[in-house]
Amino acid sequence: MSAFIRFSDLCANGQAKGRRVFIRADLNVPQDDDGRITEDTRIRASVPAIRMALDAGAAVMVTSHLGRPTEGQFKPEDSLAPVAQRLGELLGREVRLVSNWVDGGFAVAPGEVVLLENCRLNVGEKKNNPELAKKLGALCDIFVHDAFGTAHRAEGTTYGIAETAPIASAGPLLAAEMDAIAKALAQPKRPLVAIVAGSKVSTKLTILQSLAKNVDQLIVGGGIANTFMLAAGLKIGKSLAEPDLVGEARAVIEAMKARGAEVPIPTDVVTAKTFAADAPATVKKATEVADDDLILDIGPETAAKLADQLKRAGTIVWNGPVGVFEFAAFEGGTKAIAQAIAESSAFSIAGGGDTLAAIAKYGIEKDVGYISTGGGAFLEVLEGKTLPAFEVLARRAA
Ligand code: 3PG
Ligand code: MG
Repeated sequence: MSAFIRFSDLCANGQAKGRRVFIRADLNVPQDDDGRITEDTRIRASVPAIRMALDAGAAVMVTSHLGRPTEGQFKPEDSLAPVAQRLGELLGREVRLVSNWVDGGFAVAPGEVVLLENCRLNVGEKKNNPELAKKLGALCDIFVHDAFGTAHRAEGTTYGIAETAPIASAGPLLAAEMDAIAKALAQPKRPLVAIVAGSKVSTKLTILQSLAKNVDQLIVGGGIANTFMLAAGLKIGKSLAEPDLVGEARAVIEAMKARGAEVPIPTDVVTAKTFAADAPATVKKATEVADDDLILDIGPETAAKLADQLKRAGTIVWNGPVGVFEFAAFEGGTKAIAQAIAESSAFSIAGGGDTLAAIAKYGIEKDVGYISTGGGAFLEVLEGKTLPAFEVLARRAA
């Protein structure tokens, strides 16, 4: 991975003292119908950068998007007000919310932090309008990109300002994500094992193709595994699958084989006749799936074999549960994988909403090497793309 300026280094060198620091965080949290925050991981993950800036004696501005509002049209539900309050609680100080901030005209003193209202309300943000970018850059001495969840977007506050600000740096959260990604995918300790699971091959085909060039074992799960079972000539009954992508699945299997790597195909599965929590579960050989069967999990023999491979891995990348782990009868595979990752001495990185839910369910947070805060951004990394944030920060460090 290319070099980038770390905000932590700027702070340690005293370069942030008395400076105007603009932090782009990803405070895009889920809310209920009354606007109450239902899950605040991203706000908590953004606190270290803000504290770092305050401790360094900077005048701190923080902004984020919330949802996907229409530019130039303020609606109360798009406001960062609930986020300002939660952030204030976490920081133990008041966080003033500033509206209409693009042209400046608001005061922020060294040692103070203000939250700048939803940046996606600014006209030109989404398309990274150059005039807007110029104004954003003029607001600060140091720009800090700390929004990994939005690092795959080239918008005004995630990209344009990184070009126009006097200094553009990576905040501690973004830097940690960059370091973990480099450790897992650029210089992995081998064997490198990836678990890619989910309902559809189509949504993760580019990830599978990209990882097929790099990993030693590509474990597939969920509907994706069903399509791979079809490609391996197995019957899957009425399980979720994409028969028109069997050719692509076969190509991935062949590409892996040609490199001496493999896509382990399940040898046993857990099936049911209906998709329901109380549907009777039957373990059967992968060669014995009936026409009216639904495959809802990998079987115990497959889970044990995969667990063994995970325990012997040097590096593990995990995206997606391998079965319907929300239903107790079909959680065995995902639970076994989670426990194997927890017990493995491999460096592991995990990301994606369902994966995080599984990690929480099995309580293995502390045993995963790195849990990404990115959804779409994490998936684009797995696709082998260079995220706009990484590209611009590397260029500004040159
Ligand atoms: C997310 O929730 O994945 C990020 O905050 C990015 O949001 P976006 O998909 O609206 O750009
Ligand atoms: Mg979103």
